[in-house]
Amino acid sequence: MANKKKKKVSRLPKKKELPDIEPAEYDYHLPVMLEETLGYLLQDLNGIYVDGTLGGGGHTGEILNRLGETGQIFAFDKDEQAIAHCEKKFRGELQLGSASRLKLHHLSFEKACGIEEIQGRTNGILLDLGLSSRQLDESRRGFSFRINSPLDMRFGAEGQSAEEILNHANEEDLERILRIYGEEPYARLIARRITQQRRAFPLKTTYHLRGAVEETVPEKLRFKSLARVFQALRIAVNSELDVLENTLKNSVRILAPGGRIVVMSYHSLEDRIVKTIFREFAKPKIKELPNDNSIQAKPVPVLKIITPKPILPTDEELARNPRSRSAKTRVAEKL
Ligand SMILES: C[S@@+](CC[C@H](N)C(=O)[O-])C[C@H]1O[C@@H](n2cnc3c(N)ncnc32)[C@H](O)[C@@H]1O
Repeated sequence: MANKKKKKVSRLPKKKELPDIEPAEYDYHLPVMLEETLGYLLQDLNGIYVDGTLGGGGHTGEILNRLGETGQIFAFDKDEQAIAHCEKKFRGELQLGSASRLKLHHLSFEKACGIEEIQGRTNGILLDLGLSSRQLDESRRGFSFRINSPLDMRFGAEGQSAEEILNHANEEDLERILRIYGEEPYARLIARRITQQRRAFPLKTTYHLRGAVEETVPEKLRFKSLARVFQALRIAVNSELDVLENTLKNSVRILAPGGRIVVMSYHSLEDRIVKTIFREFAKPKIKELPNDNSIQAKPVPVLKIITPKPILPTDEELARNPRSRSAKTRVAEKL
């Protein structure tokens, strides 16, 4: 027994690590597909625009550069750090007070449909889903399995953290989260390992979760499983898919006729939702009529799909910013 090796949590092989961009190369987040998205979005330079995912303000900044004097942007982020960063970044514009073309909202983009001024008047909505580089690299947020930190994973301050879900959800629910949101083949075994582990001590850090995955999944598959497990939990913590679905459905009420919605997604679950909802709204539907109207309405579609296939980053962008590699952009226009 003396020769029996002690089981240890193995480290990921160096060669499989992703080529991260150095923090010095970007300030907060390098905006993805900037030219492509703004090319589709900005049709009226004095129009009203919504940036639902402000982040480091990369897209918003370039929209402001291009907008005319009476153009406006309503920008949203759930993350107070993103809002604080953009308050500084756009200080000059914001100091104009009521004349400012930029309105920052520390809110979920789901709440945009509650803002009266933009109802039915918006010329373009941009959603650049997922995480900013700052969130991924910031050591205390728990989004990255490369950095040991508390298991939070919330974009904002409300709701359950990843730690609460991991330590309190039952095994079946954990398995469901990993299988549905992560499409993780080892979902059942990882869920079992997590529940076994938490009987000994609660999972509190990203490395505790990482350990549970590494002890379950064969070494050569670990890297992908870690990425899927962390993605799955982040989606569950922030109810990302429900929020996206509701927002897309409500966006047709915010858009003016001819206004466009441009959505950048970073994994297949998000892209599938965008594709499905755009298609649903592009089918002819009977418009709701007042009760007393006896004339049968002609079925009309609500949206026109502008990009039948998603737009992908160019090779040049992929070389410059490897984090753009999974981006897919879809665009639809309100009829
Ligand atoms: C990929 S980053 C956006 C980067 C931005 N386009 C730029 O160029 O800097 C996504 C941002 O969306 C935010 N976010 C995610 N879900 C959100 C939601 N439901 N409502 C508002 N913001 C959200 C995240 O906090 C993050 O800052």
